[in-house]
Amino acid sequence: MSHEKIVILDFGGQYAHLIASRIRRQNVLAEILEPEAASVALMSDVNIKGIILSGGPQSVFDADSPKCDPAIFNLGKPVLGICYGHQFLNNSLGGEVTPGKIKEYGRAELEVIAHCTLFEDIPEKSVFWMSHGDEVTQLPEGFEVCGRTDDCGHAAVWHESKNLYGIQFHPEVTHSEFGGQVLKNFLKICEVSGDWTIEKFFEEEKQKIMEAVGDKNVFLFVSGGVDSSVSFAFLSQILGADRVKGLFVDTGMLRQGEVDFVETSLKAIGADLTTLRSADQFLGNLKDVYEPEKKREIIGHTFLDVQHEFFSHHDLHDDWVLAQGTIYPDTIETGGTKHAAKIKTHHNRAPAVQKLIDEGKIIEPIKELYKDEVRALGEFLGLPHELVWRHPFPGPGLGVRILCNEADEKIDIAPQGLGEIQAFTMQEKKKPFVVLPIKSVGVQGDGRSYRHPGLLRMGNGEWGIGKMEKLATKLINHYRQINRCVVMLGQNFEGSVKQITAHKTCVSSDRVAILQRADHIVTETLIDQNLYSDVWQFPTVLLPLSFNDSGRETIVLRPIDSIDAMSASVGKLPESFFQEVAEKILEDTSISAVLLDVTSKPPGTIEWE
Ligand code: XMP
Repeated sequence: MSHEKIVILDFGGQYAHLIASRIRRQNVLAEILEPEAASVALMSDVNIKGIILSGGPQSVFDADSPKCDPAIFNLGKPVLGICYGHQFLNNSLGGEVTPGKIKEYGRAELEVIAHCTLFEDIPEKSVFWMSHGDEVTQLPEGFEVCGRTDDCGHAAVWHESKNLYGIQFHPEVTHSEFGGQVLKNFLKICEVSGDWTIEKFFEEEKQKIMEAVGDKNVFLFVSGGVDSSVSFAFLSQILGADRVKGLFVDTGMLRQGEVDFVETSLKAIGADLTTLRSADQFLGNLKDVYEPEKKREIIGHTFLDVQHEFFSHHDLHDDWVLAQGTIYPDTIETGGTKHAAKIKTHHNRAPAVQKLIDEGKIIEPIKELYKDEVRALGEFLGLPHELVWRHPFPGPGLGVRILCNEADEKIDIAPQGLGEIQAFTMQEKKKPFVVLPIKSVGVQGDGRSYRHPGLLRMGNGEWGIGKMEKLATKLINHYRQINRCVVMLGQNFEGSVKQITAHKTCVSSDRVAILQRADHIVTETLIDQNLYSDVWQFPTVLLPLSFNDSGRETIVLRPIDSIDAMSASVGKLPESFFQEVAEKILEDTSISAVLLDVTSKPPGTIEWE
């Protein structure tokens, strides 16, 4: 049966699939297509009610930037260009795009200046998220401006009679206040009836899984997290619990008490579970490895080796299909779509795993879903609330939260120490932060960045987290050296910061134990203070940094407020919570300081690696 649908041309932005998911949630089928494949003949299909051009990591000036046939803009179908799509639409119809003076990442205030259907029920001023370098500076004939921000004069444009719209901001990220309404308005312009339901999606996936598995049984790699638990319940419901077996790998980089939790909770939902205790193998392979991508690759390979060993002992190869609980963002951020920039390699996408997927030897039952949809599916399947709403935990575990460093490095801070700044102006000579001598991963303009965090100079307890987060966005957009900002929450040394040392170190069982303790303090305090469900996720990160030669390690707290991990802001927990956690963590004298990460995503990623 053919459904009416919206086609999204994937120009490679990490948000392309997010748009599809947002559209699907309005009960409208959304299909993703490579721009090159969108011929006039194909796009003339009467079921295609509208076209969305996604964002992308490239600039329209790049010789190899993705393109679609501009003739499809004359088919009379409504078109919405987003970010790169907005620039491409304007550029290909005779407008002008130039590199922006200011690179805008994160929140921006949009002012609606013309009343068009796209902005129906949207206030005159509201917050939308931006992530771009280039901008549209001259409009094609017949186009008008309908929205602007301080830094972007053509943030929204339209051609009324042709139903063509271009927006520089990202309506698909949940941090865009009225983003959902913009997409809903576009669907209204497209005149779709909304005949697509989650039950239909479920039934179609069921068919696909049954075809892929045939009469074999399934070995599912479980972690105890939401994704693998939902995958387990999904597969069990389709195939019967006796045909699904769980394999749990203890990597030695799990949270405190994790092995017990996973065994108990998965057995409680009927899982036939085998635990492989492989800490020595994982930690051994990570010895003397410092580079984040290398660490991820090694962790991915070690998972495979361990699983291979298990299968070679049990000789299960021909009767069994392997399954893993990969979800959408994992594949997208690895560069899983043709034009997407690689932000990081998810361990489920290590080259050797990818080869097995390409050979049809691994199935991924929820790879089309975002975290919020995975949770909705979990509830639909009747899983317990605590399991469905558990904070996400990455497959490579604490391994990607223990930063490593290849050489010792020391920086001296000017005699006045970290000092204070009361207000920030772009003209200020002195940088309002100190560049820390380590690097972390971030996402800027739809691509990966690997830059330093900046430690903000700030007054004692003067600013709220929201204010610091805004300042961080401004600083990161302005200074290309940094992609993240942190503030000092607590310290195991007297006086102001005079010197910061990064020491040479890699992942080790001692460092895992230090981080496990700090992470446990965070989780316990969240639960004790009834704050666990107030944050979406709360990574605790270990940095090989020492302030004024105290301790050898620094802990970063990373409270996250998000819905689907594609965009995130800093979790706004009470100051007393942070004080209590920092004090408890600092009882361990190997910890030099406790920092709070005040960076949204973008420009930072949730994890530091
Ligand atoms: P980032 O750091 O990309 O994280 O903003 C987005 C979400 O994905 C989780 N994450 C991972 N999960 N394997 C996983 O299973 C991974 O390699 C991985 N890397 C990031 C992260 O915890 C967050 O929820």
